[in-house]
Amino acid sequence: MSFLYEKAIRPILFTQDPEKAHHIAIDLLKTLSRIPILPRILESCNLIQNDQPLKLFGLTFPNPVGLAAGMDKNAQFTQAMAALGFGFTEIGTVTHQAQPGNSKPRLFRYPKYNALINRMGFNNHGAEIIRNRLQAIPRKNRRVPIGINIGKSKVVSLKDAFEDYLGSFRLLADQADYFTINVSSPNTPSLRELQEKERLEELLQRIQSANQERAQKLGCKMIPILLKIAPDLSYQQIDEIVEIVIEEKVSGLIATNTTIERPKSLKDAETGGLSGTPLHQKSLEVVKYISHRTNQKLPIIGTGGIDDPTTAARFLDEGASLVQLYSGLVYRGPFVAKIIAKGLKNRVI
Ligand code: FNR
Repeated sequence: MSFLYEKAIRPILFTQDPEKAHHIAIDLLKTLSRIPILPRILESCNLIQNDQPLKLFGLTFPNPVGLAAGMDKNAQFTQAMAALGFGFTEIGTVTHQAQPGNSKPRLFRYPKYNALINRMGFNNHGAEIIRNRLQAIPRKNRRVPIGINIGKSKVVSLKDAFEDYLGSFRLLADQADYFTINVSSPNTPSLRELQEKERLEELLQRIQSANQERAQKLGCKMIPILLKIAPDLSYQQIDEIVEIVIEEKVSGLIATNTTIERPKSLKDAETGGLSGTPLHQKSLEVVKYISHRTNQKLPIIGTGGIDDPTTAARFLDEGASLVQLYSGLVYRGPFVAKIIAKGLKNRVI
């Protein structure tokens, strides 16, 4: 199936502008999500179930391969992801206010390197509309855990960022199996400054106290909170982040977002966040470092250049509990999650 995609479908898709091709894929996935029985039939063929389902931060994952944030920004095809074999899906980044994102073109392919560069800038429908959309999905149709990735609205200043995140948290809390706090996308000016010690401490403190308040009020558990970090941090910055994350009882880290650094081969490429194969080693190093520093006590979701069982297994071997991908879907096709989950299930440890 991957062979068919790479030889017959991808060449046609790649004649289109990258964002247009993305919308073609989205339209197909939205249609699939709306047909009543089809996702369930596909799920029975494609969703690889581990012999022992994975249990992490109170959630159960049929397999460890998730869809990374950025593909389903507006929660328009959550049901289709289990049908393609993903063991969990992450929507967003969602911002409190709806926003159009940066001007086009803002998504670029580098097929020779299995890479993408994007400077989308959190184009999304906003937390309220996305909450309504998620509310309309019957619980029985939520086949795998759904994470919600939240970020800062562009028009909001850094000093008002905390309230902005809290606004999204409150609107979306009833819909999230877990939240990802995104402080690492390179395309929202000053967002990465929220990775700095004092700001990060305050942000996580305020989210966790809203989380606790909600849990007490409703008599339920706190929602697992994950933090997504950049691959461009120094080891000292990672140490500080790990300390805060443990202090604030954050459930885990997602490592990593896209990079603003460029390998020599792509030194003249577009500005924005680089993902895919050129990111792989860098993300892997970050996962390895965190896992080592925390004695594997802090759950990590590894992401960066995963497009087959080997690249996914490297993250698990370095200490990640789950993995996510985006660029691999563009380069290897719709069944990449199934292929990876199957490969991981059958691998000899
Ligand atoms: C992304 N990514 C991303 N991450 C995030 O936290 N919020 C977002 O809105 C987006 N948007 C986005 C758009 C596009 C077009 C791409 C390619 C990527 C980053 C993504 O979730 C992931 O962390 C990186 O892309 C690394 O994984 P891959 O793509 O190498 O598998």
